[in-house]
Amino acid sequence: NNYVVIMAGGVGSRFWPYSRNNYPKQFIDVLNIGSSLLRMTYERFLDISPSENIYIVTNEDYAGLVKEQIPELSNDQILLEPHRRNTAPCIAYASYKIRKKNENANIVVAPSDHAIFKEDKFKTSICRALEAASESDKLITLGIKPTRPETGYGYIQYIDDGQIIKKVKTFTEKPAYDLAAKFVESGEFVWNAGIFIWNVNSIVKAFEAHLPDIAEVFEDGAPSYFTEQEDGFIKSAYSQCKNISIDYGIMEKSRNVYVELGDFQWSDLGSWSSLHEIRDKDADNNVIDGNALVYDVKNSVVVGPKDKLIVAEGLDNYLVAHCGNVVLICHKDNEKKFRTFVADVKSKK
Ligand code: GDD
Ligand code: MG
Repeated sequence: NNYVVIMAGGVGSRFWPYSRNNYPKQFIDVLNIGSSLLRMTYERFLDISPSENIYIVTNEDYAGLVKEQIPELSNDQILLEPHRRNTAPCIAYASYKIRKKNENANIVVAPSDHAIFKEDKFKTSICRALEAASESDKLITLGIKPTRPETGYGYIQYIDDGQIIKKVKTFTEKPAYDLAAKFVESGEFVWNAGIFIWNVNSIVKAFEAHLPDIAEVFEDGAPSYFTEQEDGFIKSAYSQCKNISIDYGIMEKSRNVYVELGDFQWSDLGSWSSLHEIRDKDADNNVIDGNALVYDVKNSVVVGPKDKLIVAEGLDNYLVAHCGNVVLICHKDNEKKFRTFVADVKSKK
């Protein structure tokens, strides 16, 4: 009864210029190990559910990339979205479709752009959560011990009742910096890893309660799932759905949210500095991919294609990224500016 839904429709703009609108980071081998983040996510779940129960939801623009990277999937397992509507509609579509296959499905919903190490521990956590989800209406998420007041994450305050799967007191998505700092200081909060585990009926009930408009749209479409009418239905469904994430739409509002603390190593690989953090470094604390000659360069990331030589001197804490027709040189930690770069580049075109 185990199913997996991998969300792969995001753009990953803080990884520009590697991550592009037409080639986002989940399709890239950012760890330089010969496999994209999406492919690694798929393989990680093969021990949890059979390949035929793994579904990928992505924008229709990326259909070709998904098929190329995971040829094992049938067309029915690749759910294509005509518009970007964030993660709530994405999860609703997959949930209502899977429910038509199996009314007792237990589902893991996972992002496609994270790095996870200590995979055995990860799998143990997921299996425990699946078991709990199969016997209750718990909406379970995995929690990660926070190390800094990161404002891009959800913060979970839980009741420490000695249970492995703990009841959540509050869920706050993307708090402002000051609030995030208070949360981290209090020691009562964990980050939301963005990986959810629940029974299909529990999540359908949550949509009905908290996002009834979206629930109604996908419920109405049920007769079309797995038929030739599905594409047509989805086109009109997505034009009716509002843009909202599962975190704001359901996790912040539901009373039956639970958290299991993860003891695996996790990085959401949100930015170049997080990539630097988790990759192996040379003696000068650099991550260097491709073809580069560096002199007196430290704490930096230098990446480019194998057929372009990059020569760099006298850099500390820099990012040098050559990708396609773009060369980006900037301070590694200025990730907040990345959205500005991307917007300015677009407006220049
Ligand atoms: N199919 C589809 N459609 N996938 C999407 C869409 C969409 O419209 N939007 C985002 N995704 C995918 C992304 O590719 C990513 O794999 C995943 O859904 C999560 O989306 P993000 O946009 O990366 O979310 P976030 O990082 O801002 O926040 C979420 O993850 C954090 C941990 O990394 C939240 O769940 C936070 O609470 C959490 O802390
Ligand atoms: Mg993310």
